[in-house]
Amino acid sequence: MPLAKNRAPSTDDRSNRICTMAKLQAIRGMNDILPAQSPTWQYLETCFARVVQSFGYREIRFPILEQTQLFKRSIGEVTDIVEKEMYSFDDRNGDSLTLRPEGTAGCVRAADQHGLLYNQQQRLWYQGPMFRHERPQKGRYRQFHQFGIEAFGMAGPDIDAEIIQLAAILWRELDLTDFVVLEINNIGSAEDRRHYGQALRKFLESKSEQLDDDARKRLVSNPMRVLDSKNPAVQAALSDAPLLADFVSADSQAQVRQLQRLLKAAGISYRENPRLVRGLDYYNNCVFEWTTESLGAQGAVCGGGRYDGLVAQLGGKPTLAAGFAIGVERLVLMLDSLQKVPDSSCQRIDVYVLVVGNNLAGQGLQLSQKIRDYYPQLGVICHCGGGKYNNQLKRAFNSGAGLAVILEREGDAETPLAEVKIRSLDDAGVSTTVAIGDSIEKVGEFLGISAS
Ligand code: HAM
Repeated sequence: MPLAKNRAPSTDDRSNRICTMAKLQAIRGMNDILPAQSPTWQYLETCFARVVQSFGYREIRFPILEQTQLFKRSIGEVTDIVEKEMYSFDDRNGDSLTLRPEGTAGCVRAADQHGLLYNQQQRLWYQGPMFRHERPQKGRYRQFHQFGIEAFGMAGPDIDAEIIQLAAILWRELDLTDFVVLEINNIGSAEDRRHYGQALRKFLESKSEQLDDDARKRLVSNPMRVLDSKNPAVQAALSDAPLLADFVSADSQAQVRQLQRLLKAAGISYRENPRLVRGLDYYNNCVFEWTTESLGAQGAVCGGGRYDGLVAQLGGKPTLAAGFAIGVERLVLMLDSLQKVPDSSCQRIDVYVLVVGNNLAGQGLQLSQKIRDYYPQLGVICHCGGGKYNNQLKRAFNSGAGLAVILEREGDAETPLAEVKIRSLDDAGVSTTVAIGDSIEKVGEFLGISAS
């Protein structure tokens, strides 16, 4: 409503104006993780950290933002991620920076920059948000999270088997073993792939009229990346394309055969998938993916492989390497839909302390802390914000607590209360009044616990 001329805006006018402003929303494909979802995330994070640490992997943290060049040189200039999906921008100095679309490049950069790679063996893990400008759908987001591990300085195939085994143990711990399948492929050495690329280019040149613009461009710059095309016409043209397997050298074949023997010995079943090439350029020899049918179209929950050329490609000394990353949102979806999150991982409130009356806030806060200190296994909420007894009791019930500790008095006395009431928050509503000094013990009695 326009303001009357010469009248100073009243508080009402100002708050009306504020109220009519549009609410800001999260960016499409970037999700808030709300308190109700957090237990699943925390359960996963705890489980992952426990498993990787039990295998001797140590955590590394590196920035979310890196120079754009890092991702171009590692993932490959002619890949979907670099060509279409990166969040890149020039900062105030005019430097081109990119929100990390994956963790391997940053992990290698950080480990090499700090001298962790040369002539050493390292087992590292990380977790955190990654960013890809993809079309959002169930299981595919623009900000998503990965758990990743990277092992450096080991030739394999024993380390390849170890990282696959680590993923298998994680599935076992999460009770997901029956819902995931391991696919592996041998994509050979860089040299093998160069020969294959030449053969593929020759083949695709003869199918040029069936290709789209993207595929025609890639045909020249990086023919293997034509295999990533989601266009059904291009996929049809590829149906009788030469197979990478026919170009893989004897050395590389022997390595992957040995890996298969190690997997069998560890009781890990797998499916060979000659079409599995991964969408990132840095891999060689064994690549793998764990997929699930419980998620619909976005079925890959974990992907990885060897990448022996990457460290040198980024300016370091040649360093053997292998690793994988897991999509956390996809695991969260699986765990929730299969109801695999144990109740014990949900945050619980056990005791709600009611503070009814004036000048009791300090005593309420102190008593609550005493209960927490005495019984560290308990969740205790101390009521804040005042209010009548009935309103506070309602909040106590809503919190899910099993027990209320009630500090209550009328009037404005300033002396501490000498007694408190303790009441079970079930249908029976059993209650008793005890001296403050006995209240801690009484809480334990009511809940059937002793101090830990
Ligand atoms: P990636 O296959 O691109 O590999 O990603 C790994 C996993 O991240 C996927 O299997 C999937 O679960 C999840 N993911 C990927 N994109 C999205 C998305 N838009 N929304 C939700 N989840 C997604 C890598 O990133 C390599 N750095 C893995 C690696 C580590 N290789 C060696 N070491």
